Amino acid sequence: MQTMRNPDQFNTWVAQLQTRTEQVLFSNMPSAELTPSTLHTAMRYAVLGGGKRIRALLTYATAEFFSVPTPQVDIAAAAVELIHAFSLVHDDMPCMDNDDLRRGKPATHKQFGDATALLVGDALQTLAFEWLASDRCVVPAAQKVQLLYTLAVATGSVGMAGGQSIDLESTNQQLSIAQLEQMHQYKTGALIRAAALLGAYSASQADAQKLRAIETYIRAIGLAFQVVDDILDAEADTATLGKTAGKDAAQNKSTYVSLIGLPAAKALAEDLYNRALSSLGSYGDEAYALRGLATLVTQRDS
Ligand code: IPE
Ligand code: IPE
Ligand code: MG
Ligand code: MG
Ligand code: MG
Repeated sequence: MQTMRNPDQFNTWVAQLQTRTEQVLFSNMPSAELTPSTLHTAMRYAVLGGGKRIRALLTYATAEFFSVPTPQVDIAAAAVELIHAFSLVHDDMPCMDNDDLRRGKPATHKQFGDATALLVGDALQTLAFEWLASDRCVVPAAQKVQLLYTLAVATGSVGMAGGQSIDLESTNQQLSIAQLEQMHQYKTGALIRAAALLGAYSASQADAQKLRAIETYIRAIGLAFQVVDDILDAEADTATLGKTAGKDAAQNKSTYVSLIGLPAAKALAEDLYNRALSSLGSYGDEAYALRGLATLVTQRDS
């Protein structure tokens, strides 16, 4: 792996892999001309040309940690972004958060209607698994099963979908801290964990000690990600976020900000950042991108 020792080099790494993710998604997604054209146009609208691609970056960074060549995880990184994009399309629908703006443009259901948005989510979800199972994904078959299994569990009722369910039920309710943490770990942490594990499981033999380090790192990062999302919802503006600011309070959502307040939520994000860094201990350059991403996740402004 290339040695990276200053922030500029990390920023270059981020920019290159964001572009790479965009290209992999762009060239592998069904063309907008392919029938049914409306659905394919809407799928591309929901996925391409926006998003920080943090989950893909986590797959690439973890792959580097396990010395997996970058091309080997292109499809895994893109598949996680498909699941994430699907979750956003459904999250914004009127029956869920009812948000009009996503990634600086009208939410998919505003642009194409509710029924098409529903189908976009369905089709993006299955496309992710189709890609992993197909020849596009160049890891050996036995490992593919592990990738498929890991992503499926993270997406379902004890992962993202389950977390979204707890989110809906806990609106207008006061959760305990333990319940709130579980909600965050499910709705956001699970897919972020899967993003990292797909990078690890793409290695022909993942080192057990490194796997333990990644598990601790990613649990902290996954929770930190949603804590920061809650903080930004309360503090940032709509133009910077590219999505409607202040909606958690407006919709009386259970968040770290609503439960423990902004200063304690910020202290928690800092604590999780430190936990993530210390889990990487004395690893050297192979953990450089993971360290950079810990900073990016906790210190981002959108
Ligand atoms: C937003 O995720 C939704 C959450 C799970 C908190 P991101 O902030 O990663 O959204 P994009 O992909 O950059 O738009
Ligand atoms: C969304 O959480 C989590 C998922 C999409 C799974 P939020 O509802 O807080 O996400 P934003 O703030 O709308 O992006
Ligand atoms: Mg939501
Ligand atoms: Mg939302
Ligand atoms: Mg939010």
